[in-house]
Amino acid sequence: MTPLWIALTVSGSVAGVILIAVFLWFSNNSISKTQYVLSFPWVKSRIKIVQVSDLHGKSFGRHNVRLISSVAASKPDVIAITGDIIHRYTQKNIAVALGTASALAAIAPVVYVSGNHEMRNKGYRFLRKGLIDAGVTVLDNSCAEFCGVTFAGLNGACNKNDAVLTLSDDPSCKILLAHMPHHIKNYARAGYPLVLCGHAHGGQWRIPFTKKGVYAPGQGLFPKLISGVHTEQNTMMVVSRSLGNSEFPLRLFNRPELVEVILIPQS
Ligand SMILES: [Fe+2]
Repeated sequence: MTPLWIALTVSGSVAGVILIAVFLWFSNNSISKTQYVLSFPWVKSRIKIVQVSDLHGKSFGRHNVRLISSVAASKPDVIAITGDIIHRYTQKNIAVALGTASALAAIAPVVYVSGNHEMRNKGYRFLRKGLIDAGVTVLDNSCAEFCGVTFAGLNGACNKNDAVLTLSDDPSCKILLAHMPHHIKNYARAGYPLVLCGHAHGGQWRIPFTKKGVYAPGQGLFPKLISGVHTEQNTMMVVSRSLGNSEFPLRLFNRPELVEVILIPQS
């Protein structure tokens, strides 16, 4: 092997490693935005909701500055956090989550529903109180009105029929925040026109140039409810690909996602 050939091989290998490292950083740390415009008869005037899901304690820059500025740039009327803001096994990222929630609450009203990870975290009580102190509305199987629309929130421990039906006893509730998308039939049966979910992390690894993911908890291999808008009866469900990771720390072809849902009156 000639010295020139050795030099070319080494420099090619180094360039390849750098490219892969940049690609992996970009895949896991650059925030993408997806916008959906949905019209409903109960919407009186345009409302922009920015959905933040499954942060799992992740910080995009120091104190989540990149995430917060990205949300602020969207100029939301309401910010909806759809669960798993922390990871179940650690309490150390609660401070990151609370700092982020507090900064988001300075941008627009924040509604929050817990996910399965909060339910298993021993620090959830502390987190819940901190969120309320930060000005976040915690929808713990309850409803609250913002911008003329009532939001309902399903606690991360309750995804069964009973809890959904109890919430829907109030017909003014139009938007359900529920962490898990694979209970779509229950949400539709309960009659919510719009549901915002996360949990599936976009299928974690996505097949390039397709919208197919490899795995999602609760759905198994090659899951279907991992992103986009899905319809079941009269219910539309928006699924965020989410921002962070849980057990498996790597996304492929599946950048972290902020979702903008723009609601407009039906003409
Ligand atoms: Fe999650």
